[in-house]
Amino acid sequence: MKLNNLSQEIPIAASSIVFANVDKKDEAKKIVIEEAGFPFKLNFMENPKIEIKDKTLFEHYAREQWYGSPAIEGSYLFDQKILPDYGFKIISAIPNDSIIGDNTEIILLNEEKRENENIKKIESNLTINDVIGQEKAKNKCKIIKKYLENPEQFGEWGPNNILFYGNPGTGKTMLVKALSNDLDIPFHLIKATNLIGDHVGDGARQIHDLFENARESTHAIIFIDEIDAIALHRQYQSLRGDVSEIVNALLSEMDGISENEGIITIAATNNPEQLDFAVRSRFEDEFEFTLPTEAERTEIFKKYISTLPLKVELTPKKLSKMTDKFSGRDIKEKVLKSSLHIAIADGKEKITSKEINASINNHLKKSETPKNMFV
Ligand SMILES: Nc1ncnc2c1ncn2[C@@H]1O[C@H](COP(=O)(O)OP(=O)(O)OP(=O)(O)O)[C@@H](O)[C@H]1O
Ligand SMILES: [Mg+2]
Repeated sequence: MKLNNLSQEIPIAASSIVFANVDKKDEAKKIVIEEAGFPFKLNFMENPKIEIKDKTLFEHYAREQWYGSPAIEGSYLFDQKILPDYGFKIISAIPNDSIIGDNTEIILLNEEKRENENIKKIESNLTINDVIGQEKAKNKCKIIKKYLENPEQFGEWGPNNILFYGNPGTGKTMLVKALSNDLDIPFHLIKATNLIGDHVGDGARQIHDLFENARESTHAIIFIDEIDAIALHRQYQSLRGDVSEIVNALLSEMDGISENEGIITIAATNNPEQLDFAVRSRFEDEFEFTLPTEAERTEIFKKYISTLPLKVELTPKKLSKMTDKFSGRDIKEKVLKSSLHIAIADGKEKITSKEINASINNHLKKSETPKNMFV
């Protein structure tokens, strides 16, 4: 039973259409709902605070009243028992346009958890093709996209844990942002450096919360940036208080994730060789992010010059020849942005080789001093 036409137009109140007998092939596997509240506000009515005491009991309760209702993302279901006419919005349904039946898993998204301060939804308008080069990692992202659109096609063999590593400023974070934006699914970002808290046990709890939160959505990406900060090789773990506890929490969650289709963990690091072996072996795939080639630098210059408010006298090809071993970030931030600022400060109407040379030399001088001293 498909209701495509309906779902593409105005979200309908799903519970207003009910199918008497739900055929197994039409049955929703899982739906995630969030509270929408009452349709009217009357002075004596306050929106209640709903807290699920027993997940299984709630599912029985919810299935019983919504059995046969369409599971369409964006549509609404209304409670008919304890809180008559209290609305819930279906935020995801697997598969979309299916029907709630006896076996549908029903999850109520917990608002408080979503607001956990360390877990952020990234918003950007990037797409995967905005990242220049890094073709293998981009292909993997396309596979992830296919998987999340149609997990059944992969069975038990979907992607789970992926590691991006390589030089700073080469597009690791950018690609994950682009993927999340392309997919339009919840995206949970955690900076591993924030996990080492003041109290022993904080970091491990945050890891559990992070994965638990992601499990509440049908599909989610967990991005652990700068993973080396916590998943340090055991040889360094003793130097950093509660780190081994965090590593253990991460290991158990990464193992559990394979049972949760639709959840993918991507981690990024500049120092893969410092990673704990047990953590590293959990990644089914690793992708190295390399510094851009001359041709790729030309593309990167072209891309960012097109958004500069001033014209640049030099061609992207020429600029590329002058910037051997520069990363995408160096090109954007250290060459173009810096040149633009010099030109504006000097009241110039375009960027000439003078500003470009000054910026390049300045960057080269700075990169001679060691940046990352391991303490
Ligand atoms: N391959 C690329 N294509 C286009 N732009 C890039 C590329 N690499 C880097 N950039 C630009 O540089 C910025 C910084 O890159 P990003 O934050 O993705 O680097 P990173 O690999 O995550 O670095 P780090 O290891 O330091 O976290 C990007 O937001 C983008 O503007
Ligand atoms: Mg990064």
